[in-house]
Amino acid sequence: MFYNTNKRSISKEKGKFLIIPKSNCDDDPPFIVYLVTVSHSQWKERSAIRQTWGKDLRPNGKRTVAYFLLGYNTKYQSMILNESLYYNDIIQKNFTDTYHNLTLKVMMGIEWVHEFCPSVSFVMKTDSDMFVNTYYLTELLSQKNWTQLYTGFIKNKEKPIRYKLSKWYLTKEEYPQSTFPPFCSGTGYVFSGDLTGKIIAVSKHIPILKLEDVYIGLCFQKLNVTPVELNSAQPFHARKVEFSICNFHKLVTSHQVSPVELLIYWKTLEENSKEECWKKMEEFRWA
Ligand SMILES: *[C@@H]1O[C@H](CO)[C@@H](O)[C@H](O)[C@H]1NC(C)=O
Ligand SMILES: *[C@@H]1O[C@H](CO)[C@@H](O)[C@H](O)[C@H]1NC(C)=O
Ligand SMILES: *[C@@H]1O[C@H](CO)[C@@H](O)[C@H](O)[C@H]1NC(C)=O
Ligand SMILES: *[C@@H]1O[C@H](CO)[C@@H](O)[C@H](O)[C@H]1NC(C)=O
Repeated sequence: MFYNTNKRSISKEKGKFLIIPKSNCDDDPPFIVYLVTVSHSQWKERSAIRQTWGKDLRPNGKRTVAYFLLGYNTKYQSMILNESLYYNDIIQKNFTDTYHNLTLKVMMGIEWVHEFCPSVSFVMKTDSDMFVNTYYLTELLSQKNWTQLYTGFIKNKEKPIRYKLSKWYLTKEEYPQSTFPPFCSGTGYVFSGDLTGKIIAVSKHIPILKLEDVYIGLCFQKLNVTPVELNSAQPFHARKVEFSICNFHKLVTSHQVSPVELLIYWKTLEENSKEECWKKMEEFRWA
């Protein structure tokens, strides 16, 4: 069971953060904050992300930083508390950490940004099995002074799944309409910092839906914010893209990346710059 309209007060009852990282946001406002959904036992995933795109990086002097979103689980709590003392990058509230509560988890992250890091330029929600090219994303986001930006892998005119055994099954009570609003895939979407407070405000009027990315799409629809493409060539991929140095220098996300793959991809990209990639391609062409 996940909670529905009648139980909307839950976010108030369980509204207190159990773990809040120190953000440094006032002194050193981040350009991008990554909100990463993980489960407790994904130690390897968190570790790989901390060593790669989740590092406190400064592409072109612009700070990017990742935070992990967790619900509560007694079994892991002492380990999670310890981990958070070490890395200071865990955001936690007291809700049961299940797939059905994913929307709560993401809203918790957005609330945290709103309260503790309102000076951020952009927020990206993504998952623990994602490759994120933080350098390329920073470059793309720097091309304009964005406001009211909502971007990612856009899904138009998707329909709710009415097949009971599906992970994404929705009853007509949960979602009566026959299509979803345009929304960006939950594998990785970005919105500008000016929208965080607005999402929270508008969410109070939209019954929770377990499909987190659709829910955010509903919030943006109500705010009259439509998703836009960030670049003419799609940089957000909701599937697994085959690794190559040139491919990965020119994309923002790829899906289903294991911690080991992530570490290897990152190292390979650090050792082979974009320029070298084009040079090698030229050599190959003339060989
Ligand atoms: C606490 O976390 C650190 C860093 O992850 C780890 O090295 C250490 O073993 C942990 N200690 C306990 C008691 O779990
Ligand atoms: C979490 O909420 C439950 C139910 O409201 C409560 O019994 C429990 O003490 C809370 N746990 C923490 C760590 O706050
Ligand atoms: C979270 O999910 C669990 C199980 O799926 C459910 O019982 C609970 O009501 C949900 N909400 C909260 C706030 O924990
Ligand atoms: C964005 O605005 C700043 C300050 O107004 C300006 O210096 C900068 O050139 C602008 N950047 C772009 C890409 O328009």
